[in-house]
Amino acid sequence: MHIRTASAAEMLALWGENPDHPSPTARFNCENIESGSATLFVWDRSGVLVGELYLFRSLSDPDFADGKKRAYFCALRIRKNLRGQGLGTALMEHVIAQAAREGFTELTIGVEYSEEANIRLYRRLGFTEPVKDCVFDPCAMDENMEPEAHTGFQLLLKRL
Ligand SMILES: CC(C)(COP(=O)(O)OP(=O)(O)OC[C@H]1O[C@@H](n2cnc3c(N)ncnc32)[C@H](O)[C@@H]1OP(=O)(O)O)[C@@H](O)C(=O)NCCC(=O)NCCS
Repeated sequence: MHIRTASAAEMLALWGENPDHPSPTARFNCENIESGSATLFVWDRSGVLVGELYLFRSLSDPDFADGKKRAYFCALRIRKNLRGQGLGTALMEHVIAQAAREGFTELTIGVEYSEEANIRLYRRLGFTEPVKDCVFDPCAMDENMEPEAHTGFQLLLKRL
């Protein structure tokens, strides 16, 4: 099992999207992957993708990613039966190292207030500084391709 980058087409397959009519958020991810503004990192187990994490270099809200020094980590997910074995941590560490190599010095991640295990994971990885409370997710799009309203989550910062 190894970590690698994946294409927009692989993202659509992973999400079970129709490539001809992707959802607004899937379309947004595809466009960003194809332009190089975002990269999808995956855990590949013999050709099957079992974990994912997106590195966004630039977003409409520069508090998340400003294209220069700050990048945003989005949609960390590990297949259910493989959780609790360190895969999420290893994927985060891999992408943190990649962001550092690219010269980013500030990394952000969003987390819902009730997600205690995720908050613990991010804290261990150094995402300790609260940036702000958010009611819009710049990586989740509505049908007008505008950032979708959210019930509320916190943006956390790690300095490299
Ligand atoms: C959040 C998520 C990605 C974490 O992935 P994971 O692979 O389970 O993460 P890890 O295994 O690295 O860490 C999780 C726990 O396993 C423990 N762990 C780490 N390495 C371990 C190992 N080698 N063996 C056993 N346990 C380990 C960690 O200490 C951690 O424990 P804690 O919850 O008590 O703090 C996963 O739970 C997930 O996909 N959740 C659903 C989607 C989600 O909420 N994503 C985040 C917001 S988009």
